[in-house]
Amino acid sequence: MAGDFDRFVGPLDPAALIVTAAVEGERSGCLVGFQAQCSIDPPLLAVWVSHANHTHGVAARATHLGVHVLSDDERELAELFGGTTGDEVDKFERCRWTPGAFDVPLLDDCPRRGVFEVAARHDVGGDHDLFVLAPVDITTGSTGDTALRIGAMDIEPGHPVPPE
Ligand SMILES: Cc1cc2nc3c(=O)[nH]c(=O)nc-3n(C[C@H](O)[C@H](O)[C@H](O)COP(=O)(O)O)c2cc1C
Repeated sequence: MAGDFDRFVGPLDPAALIVTAAVEGERSGCLVGFQAQCSIDPPLLAVWVSHANHTHGVAARATHLGVHVLSDDERELAELFGGTTGDEVDKFERCRWTPGAFDVPLLDDCPRRGVFEVAARHDVGGDHDLFVLAPVDITTGSTGDTALRIGAMDIEPGHPVPPE
C-alpha cells in the first residue's frame, strides 16, 4: 500500500518551503513539502510539520511562524533545513538570517518569505501536525515565479519520521 500511495501522490510534486520558528531564544526550522493554500478570503496557508522534528517542538509553542518559498537557486538552504536536524546542529549559525516581526527568523537568502500567525493547529491523526497560517507580513522580493519542487531534490531527511 505504501508504494502504491507514493506513486499516487508522486505527480502532485509540491513546492518546497522552509518553515522557521523561535520561542524564548530557541530557533528552529525545517524543509516542508506538505503544504497548500487552504483559503482565499481570508488568505490561509496550511503546512504540516512532523512530530519527530526539532522544529515541531518550537513551532508548537510559537504564535507566529516564518514561511519561505524556495526558488530553483536556493537548493543549499533546502539541504541545510531538510538534511540536518536542530537536535544536532544550529542551522542558523550556517545561514544568513534576520529576526522579523514577532522575532520570527527570516532567511536573508530567500526573498519570497513572510511572517504568518498560527491561526490553528491540529493533530490530524497522522505523524504530522497541521498548522493553519495567516499572513502578517510577506515579501516576494525580485525572485521569479518558479519554485523549487520537492521531486527535484535528492535529500535524506535530517530527522526521519520513525515507524509508528
Ligand atoms: C524533500 C523533503 C521534504 C520534506 N517535507 C517535510 C514536511 O512536509 N514536513 C516536515 O515536518 N518535514 C519534512 N521533511 C523533513 C525535515 O525537513 C527534515 O527531517 C529536517 O531535517 C528536520 O529538521 P529539524 O529536526 O531541525 O526540524 C522533508 C524533508 C525532505 C528532504
